[in-house]
Amino acid sequence: MEKRRLGQSGLVASVIGMGTWKTFDVRGEEVEASRHRVARRALDQGVTLYDSSPMYGEAERVLAEGLGDRRQEALVATKVWASGLEEGRAQIEYALGVYGTVDLYQIHNLVSWQDQLQVLEGPREEGKVDAIGATHYTASAFDELARVMRTGRITAIQIPYNPRQREVEQMILPLAAELDLGVLVMRPLGEGSLLGRPPPPEKLAPLNKFGVTSWPQALLKWVLSDPRCHIAIPATSSESHLVENAAAGSPPWFGPEERALVAGLAT
Ligand SMILES: NC(=O)c1ccc[n+]([C@@H]2O[C@H](COP(=O)([O-])OP(=O)(O)OC[C@H]3O[C@@H](n4cnc5c(N)ncnc54)[C@H](OP(=O)(O)O)[C@@H]3O)[C@@H](O)[C@H]2O)c1
Repeated sequence: MEKRRLGQSGLVASVIGMGTWKTFDVRGEEVEASRHRVARRALDQGVTLYDSSPMYGEAERVLAEGLGDRRQEALVATKVWASGLEEGRAQIEYALGVYGTVDLYQIHNLVSWQDQLQVLEGPREEGKVDAIGATHYTASAFDELARVMRTGRITAIQIPYNPRQREVEQMILPLAAELDLGVLVMRPLGEGSLLGRPPPPEKLAPLNKFGVTSWPQALLKWVLSDPRCHIAIPATSSESHLVENAAAGSPPWFGPEERALVAGLAT
């Protein structure tokens, strides 16, 4: 699995990370144990970055329990999603309680970002948080995201990117490259919506020499073949999907021809 440096955040992570939205928001002994197995299988596959948020219900806790005594092998990227200073501080206290430290603390959907930047800079000064980032899921917020990027107070962003959702190509990815910010890609599989009717294997044949044997791998490699994107964080509740996804994290990367092929098949 290739590792990349996430811009000036200085963090170095495997190009395939793991999201936890919906998949890790579970409750109950059996289902939680199955997610713990997914997390540990991910560590075994060389997946080093794990994304969560207090918005994802039980996910922060279930992920922390899944990483367990292997926490030090992982980079944890969680979020603050709060409307005021006090709520933000309480979320951070909880996450630091379950993870010890947080490697990348992101402001979820830019919610009250001025307040939350101020709140996050405290634990960063104390060494409990390594890097601060910001996320947004929709293009209508990209002007505001660009403003936050230009403050010089964050070192990473998390944005949606897949062959059907390419708005970041216009302003956000060029700006991130110019400012040397880390770029994490959410929704690389379009929340699963790109997987409904996968192309038949013969259409993927030209990608076989890139190590691609399945449609999810083609989509992940499409994202990671843009050098401005450092990591993709597909979410999964399945160990076999996890292994399949992790296998897309090694070179060779696509050139323009293969990217165009995948984009054509997706749209
Ligand atoms: N505003 C924000 O900050 C924000 C917004 C959205 C997402 N995110 C982050 O980004 C992460 C990823 O985005 P996402 O979860 O929305 O969508 P995604 O990763 O694009 O898609 C996840 C879906 O794909 C399925 N899947 C994964 N690998 C598969 C495979 N190999 N074969 C078949 N199905 C597969 C999963 O189902 P199975 O469980 O069946 O595998 C799941 O339903 C989130 O989990 C979250 O951490 C952040």
